[in-house]
Amino acid sequence: MLPGDRLIRHYLQFKDFNAEEYAYLFERARIIKHRFKTYEKYHPLADRTLAMIFEKASTRTRVSFEAGMYQLGGSVVHLTTGDSQLGRSEPIEDTARVISRMTDIVMIRTFGQDKLETFARYSRVPIINGLTNEFHPCQILADIFTFIEHRGSIEGKVVAWVGDGNNMANTWLQAAQLLGFTVHISTPSGYGVDLALAGITDDKCYKIFKDPMQACAGADLVTTDVWTSMGFEAENEARRKAFADWCVDDEMMAAAAKNAVFMHCLPAHRGEEVTAEVIDGPQSVVWDEAENRMHVQKALMEYLLLGRVAD
Ligand code: CP
Ligand code: NVA
Repeated sequence: MLPGDRLIRHYLQFKDFNAEEYAYLFERARIIKHRFKTYEKYHPLADRTLAMIFEKASTRTRVSFEAGMYQLGGSVVHLTTGDSQLGRSEPIEDTARVISRMTDIVMIRTFGQDKLETFARYSRVPIINGLTNEFHPCQILADIFTFIEHRGSIEGKVVAWVGDGNNMANTWLQAAQLLGFTVHISTPSGYGVDLALAGITDDKCYKIFKDPMQACAGADLVTTDVWTSMGFEAENEARRKAFADWCVDDEMMAAAAKNAVFMHCLPAHRGEEVTAEVIDGPQSVVWDEAENRMHVQKALMEYLLLGRVAD
């Protein structure tokens, strides 16, 4: 229980919240972003502490959560596998029990989703998925908020996913099913999405294409990600060969809708999954997308700790 006898909520997958909660979060993120831009002090999480546990590298997730928590008046503890007892095999259950007695909310970036779920089961406080092999919900939260800022509601729109059927692709699928849009997915054979893992029951929310150009045709948003995600480095060479035709280029953007935007969660490899012309070009919104990680996660932490607020 949280103070006030509220039940603990976790954010482990995109489908942990419903469409109405997302509408609330996007509106809160807009308000919180405006306060940040106008230097308005807003400290609803004074005296609250966020623990961040990283078992994989990060730039954006670390900075956005850490800066965001300080801006909300709270403080942050940062742990990695290497500098904590996690790296010396302390059970995840014990780690969860201890950390959640000393802090108010925990963000974890790790390998298997099962590890995150175990942590959540033994935690007294809300747990946020900061990326697992299977899902990256905070990123899709930021991506959809960014789309709304640039183009309005995402309902009924088409998102083209070009590349690996990875954690980002799985999360886009969950978002499409919940928020009423369609994902056109094109991956090399053997690197497809896992519909069962994502819990996709609605076949209207996605279409699979062999040819990435066809996936992009008419799309409102074209997006991709690295060919080799963290944890899969041993497959790097095989992936480079398999993914050679899955590079988002000017031709793919020309096939998309006229006012389509390009997104990439970053870090990007220019010349692999996207050309420099596209990521640095006029349709790219990747810098807004990266910045918005901070604003949506501030809204998320506020929601998990305080519930709905009116001010
Ligand atoms: N997009 C993203 O999660 O970036 P980092 O790996 O830098 O945190
Ligand atoms: N799919 C990538 C995203 C990095 C932010 C990975 O898991 O490495």
